[in-house]
Order: sequence, then structure tokens, then C-alpha cells
Amino acid sequence: MKLKNAIVSSTVLFAISFPSFLLGAETSQRTREVIDSRCMLCHGPEGERGSAHYPRLAAQNAAYLVKQLRDFRDGRRTSEAMTGLTSDLNDRDISELAEYFSKSPPQSRPARNAVEAELGKKIYFEGLPVAGVSACAACHGNDAHGTIELPRLAGQLPSYIETQLMKFATRERTNDGNVMNVIASGLNDIEKRALAVYLGSLH
Ligand code: HEC
Ligand code: HEC
Repeated sequence: MKLKNAIVSSTVLFAISFPSFLLGAETSQRTREVIDSRCMLCHGPEGERGSAHYPRLAAQNAAYLVKQLRDFRDGRRTSEAMTGLTSDLNDRDISELAEYFSKSPPQSRPARNAVEAELGKKIYFEGLPVAGVSACAACHGNDAHGTIELPRLAGQLPSYIETQLMKFATRERTNDGNVMNVIASGLNDIEKRALAVYLGSLH
């Protein structure tokens, strides 16, 4: 009986002390507090809220989120809001936050303008060969869900996508290995808007 108790209590202890980042899906209390006290103010508790400035995080690819959070923290991507908010996060916090938001289910929103969405779809799949713009689908995928490392664009807020394309074009954002800088520079404002409207309507 004593032996059985000892086995039970050491199993319990092991479960408590086992580092949660090795268990993958677990969201530690510290991460929960970071979400409740910071992230949710702008991105919403599930990463679903957004605005012209705040991107939707729900269902975004985890490795992409990890890279962005490290880039903000280490100064490779600049943002007045995000730089200060990530300065005290360690790599484990960042992995847990990325895991949490990547598992949050996305919601779909209908396109607000069918004509713009149609133009955006055409550029998304065909690019603009005369302006040196490759088809977005080649990297971000036919469904715009991205890859492990490339961002999901489906369902992202149109105004955020437009802002990022602008920032890539003006080189205010430079953490993309110069890929998006070149692509965004070949798009005019109408084309940027059309792509944003199309992508925002995808699920
Ligand atoms: C005060 C508002 C605010 C708070 C609080 C906030 N963010 Fe942000 N977040 C922003 C803004 C603004 C951007 C867009 C920055 C830009 O334009 O490049 C952003 C961008 C991001 C991105 C980049 C997404 C992408 O698609 O590239 C990630 C990831 C992110 N935030 C995660 C978080 C996490 C995790 C927290 C909590 C620790 C958090 N944010 C708290 C405002 C906020
Ligand atoms: C050759 C591959 C490639 C092509 C083609 C491509 N992209 Fe990208 N895209 C990337 C990479 C790489 C990143 C940045 C990853 C990072 O910041 O770490 C990115 C990032 C983005 C982002 C930022 C997402 C966010 O959440 O902040 C947007 C928006 C975007 N691309 C839109 C487009 C559009 C629209 C097209 C077509 C006109 C396109 N991309 C074509 C590789 C590509």
C-alpha cells in the first residue's frame, strides 16, 4: 500500500513539474495571464478581434507567429505597440502564445466589395507579370492558408493586409528576406486594396 502511494504521489509530482512547453498544447498560467492582461486588449481573447491596425491572430501558423514575436522582441520588426509588449517574453512564453493563437478557430467574413474581390483574386492567382509581381498563390497557397513558415492570409483583416503591403513597399517592414518588399513595390494602391478585400473574405 505504501509503495502504491509513493508511486501515485511521484506520478503527480512528475506531472506538475514536467515543463509545459514539452507537452505542446498546454497553456501555462503565466501565458494565460499575459493573454488576459495584454494581448486581448487589442487582439481579443481568442485572437479574433482586429482593426485597421491590429491583425487577427486566430488560426495563424504557429511558426510564423513565433518568428514575428521574436522579430518584434529583438528589433527586426518594428511596431510602437508590439516592441514594448514583447520585450520581457522568453522563447518559451513565445512558443506557448503562438501555439494558443494558432489553435484558435477562424471566423469568416463576407467580401464587402465583389468587384474589388474579383480583381484581387485574379492578381492572387496570376500575379502581375508586367510589374514583376509573382502570383501570391505560389507561396501563400491556393487557399491562402500559408505554410508552416509563411503567414496565413485567409480571413485576415483587409485594412491590416493593406497596411502591411504598404509597409513592405516603403521598406518600413523588412523582416521578410526582401521577398515581399519587391512584390509589394509592384502593386499600386487599387491592387493592394483589391488583394486585401479578396483575402479578407476567405475562410
Ligand atoms: C496595444 C495594442 C496591442 C497589444 C496589447 C498587443 N498587440 Fe500584437 N499587434 C498590435 C499591432 C498594432 C500590430 C501590427 C504591427 C504592424 O503594423 O506591423 C500587432 C501585430 C502582432 C503580430 C503580428 C501578426 C502578423 O500577422 O504578422 C503578432 C503575432 C502579435 N501582434 C501578437 C501579440 C501578442 C501575443 C500579444 C500579447 C503579448 C499582443 N500582440 C498584444 C497591437 C497590439
Ligand atoms: C516568393 C514567395 C512569396 C510570394 C510570391 C508572396 N509572398 Fe507574401 N510573404 C512571403 C514571405 C516570406 C512573407 C514574410 C514572412 C515573415 O515576415 O517572416 C510574406 C508576408 C506577407 C504578408 C504579411 C502577413 C502578416 O500577417 O503580416 C502579406 C499581407 C503578404 N505576404 C501578401 C502577399 C500578397 C498579396 C502576395 C501576392 C501579390 C504575396 N504575398 C506573394 C512570401 C511570398
